[in-house]
Amino acid sequence: MNNERNNFRTKIGIIFATAGSAVGLGNLWRFPIETGNNGGGAFLMIYLIAIIFIGLPLMIAEFAIGRSTHANIATAYKKLSNNRFWNKIGYIGVFSATIITSYYLVVAGWTVFYLIEALSNGFSIEVTGGLEDAYTDIFSNFIANPFLSVIYTLIFILMTHLIIVKGVQKGIEKSSKIMMPMLFIIIMILAVCSIFTPGAKEGLTFLFKPNFNKITTASLLSAIGQCFYSLSLAMGCLCTYASYFKKDVNLIKTAFNISLIDTLIAILAGVIIFPAVFSVGINPEAGPSLIFITLPHVFQSVFGFSPVLVYIVSILFYVLLILATLTSAISLYEVMTAFISETYNISRNKATIIISITMVLLGSFCALSMGELNWIKICDRNIFDIFDFVSSNILLPITGMLICLFVGWKMDKDLLYKQITNKSRNTKDRHLTFQAILYYCIVFLLRYIIPIAIAIIFIDGLGII
Ligand code: TRP
Repeated sequence: MNNERNNFRTKIGIIFATAGSAVGLGNLWRFPIETGNNGGGAFLMIYLIAIIFIGLPLMIAEFAIGRSTHANIATAYKKLSNNRFWNKIGYIGVFSATIITSYYLVVAGWTVFYLIEALSNGFSIEVTGGLEDAYTDIFSNFIANPFLSVIYTLIFILMTHLIIVKGVQKGIEKSSKIMMPMLFIIIMILAVCSIFTPGAKEGLTFLFKPNFNKITTASLLSAIGQCFYSLSLAMGCLCTYASYFKKDVNLIKTAFNISLIDTLIAILAGVIIFPAVFSVGINPEAGPSLIFITLPHVFQSVFGFSPVLVYIVSILFYVLLILATLTSAISLYEVMTAFISETYNISRNKATIIISITMVLLGSFCALSMGELNWIKICDRNIFDIFDFVSSNILLPITGMLICLFVGWKMDKDLLYKQITNKSRNTKDRHLTFQAILYYCIVFLLRYIIPIAIAIIFIDGLGII
């Protein structure tokens, strides 16, 4: 019944939707934190190298799996391999997407709360103690309030639900075509504002001037982890989206464009945040609170001469966060929707309802784990932290490595060649085209370099060495 699969309608739609998946909290929230913690410019350089040699080939590999099978990720791996071990990669992907989505939606809920706070001018507060303390209070009172934190998570689930039920073309593609251009415009406006702040020179120097003294092996690993997270790798999002690509889409070019957009947005997020942070003399190593505690303070201090400007800049910033988060959340939702509706042969509508109910339960559980339920702890971490840790540090690297090994060693090479180059392989022809050379480079990276690099992150991430 549900077998007529829709494809994305246009190439620009593909770019907006897939870039929408990649651009999210990873760029605006995690990238500045990681850059701040790892010495600025030098981290940026290593990150760029990780994107080119690890992110791009893995993205192309996921695209090839999705586009060659035109199926959800669990079915995709079954179609490509009849081996019982490799069949399971798709299921790990669906499981990981469920875990990551449930805590991503909680942070997404925070962005809605911050927008509403900004709209009601809640950040222009009379403070008696230090400014930052007041903002810390807003944040910690909010996440500890069981009612509020759950309500905002539910609002976000509803927004995601409404887009996903509309389907691939009318939901995902259409909404991305509206949201992504808005996101680009807002980010440019904010970057220009930031360049005129007093700390611009210092902030930009921090971001762009490499200081290699600060680089340790841990920074290399953070750069690889950030590359996975930011490009939405290893969790089936790209594979599921590629299952809606038409046959003539050039996978290498698409992957290159998406990585370029994602990296530019991350850099622009750095351009917005570091000059602002340096302008008020806050340490750029402020950590996860950077956008939720530090930035309202920064907006207040930097643009304090004009309350209207503070108001507009704050609203624009949180709208930006919501747009970026929503386009990523829908890609995570789609992994589960395609899986459930195709595996159990039920309508998209019903599948989305099942997922939303699951998300309401898991998401509320995560949201409450920072307040009411913070007594539930495993290894000193609450549920939110466990979900984050298990998905980013365990499931992402394992699935990433399995995908590389599968595509590099197991997947039929003629099929892979056809997907990557859009041409059939002619083994008799000794003349190598540029695309064929790229194909061999990608296979080499997937077979050897990336699995070894991932093995190192994994072992180090878990503190085994
Ligand atoms: N890439 C998104 C971001 O930058 C988050 C995301 C979406 C993601 N899908 C993913 C992260 C899959 C890891 C795996 O915020």
